[in-house]
Amino acid sequence: MSDAASETIYLKDYTEPHHWVRDVHLTFRLAPKATRVLSRITFVPNAENGGDLILNGEELTLITATVDGAIVPMEVSDTHLRIKSADLPQKPFTFEAEVEIAPEDNTALEGLYMSNGMYCTQCEAEGFRKITYYPDRPDVMATFTVRVEGDYPVLLSNGNPVASGDGWAEWHDPWPKPAYLFALVAGDLVNHAGSFTTKSGKDVELNIYVRRGDEDKCAFGMQALKDAMAWDEKTYGREYDLDIFNIVAVDDFNMGAMENKGLNVFNSSCVLASQATSTDANFERIEGIIAHEYFHNWTGNRITCRDWFQLCLKEGLTVYRDQMFSGDMRSHPVKRIEEVLTLRARQFREDNGPLAHPVRPESFVEINNFYTATVYEKGAEIIGMLRRLVGDEAYRKGCDLYFERHDGQAVTIEDWLKAFEDATGRDLSHFAQWYSQAGTPRLTMSEEWTDGTLTLSFAQSTPPTPGQDEKNPQVIPIAVGLIGPNGDEVLPTTVLEMTEAEQSFTFEGLGARPVASVLRDFSAPVILQRDMDAATRAFLLAHDTDPFQKWEMGRMLSKDTLIDMITSGGTPAADYLDALKTVLSDESLDPAFRALALGLPSQDDLAQTLFDAGQTPDPQKIYEAREALRRALARHMSDILPTLFRQHETPQFKPDADGSGKRALRLSVLSLLTLLDDGEAARTLFAAADNMTEQEGSLQALLTAGLGSDELQAFEKQWKEDRLVMDKWFMMQVAFAAPDTAAATAEALTRHPAFTMKNPNRFRAVFGALTSNHAGFHHDSGAAYDLLSKNLISLDKLNPQTTARMSAAFETWRRYDSARQAKIHAQLDRMLATDGLSRDTTEMVTRILGG
Ligand code: BES
Ligand code: ZN
Repeated sequence: MSDAASETIYLKDYTEPHHWVRDVHLTFRLAPKATRVLSRITFVPNAENGGDLILNGEELTLITATVDGAIVPMEVSDTHLRIKSADLPQKPFTFEAEVEIAPEDNTALEGLYMSNGMYCTQCEAEGFRKITYYPDRPDVMATFTVRVEGDYPVLLSNGNPVASGDGWAEWHDPWPKPAYLFALVAGDLVNHAGSFTTKSGKDVELNIYVRRGDEDKCAFGMQALKDAMAWDEKTYGREYDLDIFNIVAVDDFNMGAMENKGLNVFNSSCVLASQATSTDANFERIEGIIAHEYFHNWTGNRITCRDWFQLCLKEGLTVYRDQMFSGDMRSHPVKRIEEVLTLRARQFREDNGPLAHPVRPESFVEINNFYTATVYEKGAEIIGMLRRLVGDEAYRKGCDLYFERHDGQAVTIEDWLKAFEDATGRDLSHFAQWYSQAGTPRLTMSEEWTDGTLTLSFAQSTPPTPGQDEKNPQVIPIAVGLIGPNGDEVLPTTVLEMTEAEQSFTFEGLGARPVASVLRDFSAPVILQRDMDAATRAFLLAHDTDPFQKWEMGRMLSKDTLIDMITSGGTPAADYLDALKTVLSDESLDPAFRALALGLPSQDDLAQTLFDAGQTPDPQKIYEAREALRRALARHMSDILPTLFRQHETPQFKPDADGSGKRALRLSVLSLLTLLDDGEAARTLFAAADNMTEQEGSLQALLTAGLGSDELQAFEKQWKEDRLVMDKWFMMQVAFAAPDTAAATAEALTRHPAFTMKNPNRFRAVFGALTSNHAGFHHDSGAAYDLLSKNLISLDKLNPQTTARMSAAFETWRRYDSARQAKIHAQLDRMLATDGLSRDTTEMVTRILGG
């Protein structure tokens, strides 16, 4: 790897480009091994800093290039095309080029590539440079006109269709955009059509393009799109701005989906849905991701990022928007609990390890490595905190001002915050630190009660993270409520605003000592440490009016129980088992909530908790304790499980909040029941299920209990022609394998005829499952570490982006004992020692080792 290729880029070094682009004309002559890309670009010198014309370009074969029709001297390297200022007109000029690329050989799935015979593109973050020479940076915005030539029935690009004929089509996008939002699709596709009329009366044609045979899996996504369009009008006053909105499903895709202007490209797993093939979780994800990409039309496309350090400007905000949308479509409490579960599982984990970084990083080697839980999920939490601090009305005012002021621009986090300062008159300079300071704050609380006055005292501190030893206090909105001894709420939710390292808040005039419900709705991404006995937790579990805290109390009871079982071989207290049983049988509670309350902390969560408490987690012990607790719960609830299972049958399948909540409860009950009835109920459900949620759920229950080999075979037989369902088949048997067999199962599956390294979904199905199987992945044989690194090394040659992301499985290595640490270290060294290891993976492995 050349030095230039692994250079570190710094936020502080940002400078404007030497040239802006006014407009771009592209012609694609498609051919799998030799696509020609002709470009005609109008450049305008940047008066601020005239200089050389610097264009990015990688893996391109240059055929010709001219400036205003003439050949001029130019330097062409592996990464750039450069024309000296002295050889350029000092006024607007036209640059024309013809290059050749080979989409069929593109296994990295970045730039123009082929998937199942269709052409598609993925340009974010820096993929456009693999299509033609261009200033591939988000602050360069231009209008694009695109002509696609190829012998395919469907030829698509961004914007509105202009003209088409046999074997060609032309598109024009009137909205200036950065190159990362460019897209092209060509293939033999079929569309599911729809339409939407915006609130100002504009008719928009909607299409979901899919492979032949997938037409019947588009209706749900189409409805989600319409719901998202209506929601953005109602909630943010944002309308759609083109005549057409196209979505395309592709099987080979590194990420979930991409918001290209007017032409969103989706991983087929994130758009295709049907009762028989998709689980409730799939439906929920599809609804959320369709909304997410659609919402980017304003938060990302119309207003984009000045540079990639500002990624959270579009991603954090858009995740926050899709979360609120999903809450409105389904249930806010349930959605919030799910959000916190993923925030803790992914972002807290990242923040506590060698890959910790600020929501707005200060440097990177490969930007693809910074599409992280921190940028996305903590980025969304920051928006939620901002809204809580300024209030709903001021939040909307701030957003309105942001849209009005910056439409058509490429901006920064400072611009976003300034709009809020100007709209609300609030000083956000301290709050802004959430963007620059990494690490999860620990918030310690103590209480004092005297003569009708309750004092809550808080202290905050944030542990050091790589490159940031000293931490400052953050602005923390702490939502609290008070519950009286009789279980009634005596103070409804109030937001305390903590800004100092230590701060106290008093509540006066209280009759009897209440119990404080603290960090309601998880009002800040912090770890709350508070001494609380099991009885008080059980009291809040029974009486808290805040659904998040109610759930949290059950969670903490489960966690304390498990930690005790792991560290001192204790047995679960009867009070705890009773408390969970009461929640489970409380018919006034939403079944989805009851299912969540029954969910135990993950093994990874327990390992982190033990590590934070100064202990060395033993994965096998954690696994055994968790299984023992599941058996204890099953026995304790044996009298109510069969009834609950029967009661929550959903004869009419509907993938909505109500139906999915019932099925979630039914399946968590089934998972316990399977420990008692030797799999009888699960087998019966598996045979009878008319939907994938229950088919997969019953098979999971069997596999977790060490049963289900016949069902696994039947499943394969039934679904061998369906790639997305087969991903579930690959995934389940590894994810739910016993610790001793996980690595061997994964290894055997890599030799299955349907396994392929070229499809990221399939690779993730096997290896994502292996790394999610905590005790299997950390088995003391080290077999899983070895298998993963071996396969990552192979994948890196094909697809660096997915390899780098998946290498983060090793980020927790310092939690474990020295023998495991040495084994992981050896695997990371082995990866680094590999010839030609990509820049992406090199950066990740280096950071994991270094932090
Ligand atoms: N812009 C991203 C897709 C992307 C990510 C492109 C990284 C290139 C590199 C898109 O808007 C996105 O965020 N997708 C998420 C799903 C979303 C619901 C959070 C994804 O693909 O996982
Ligand atoms: Zn996004």
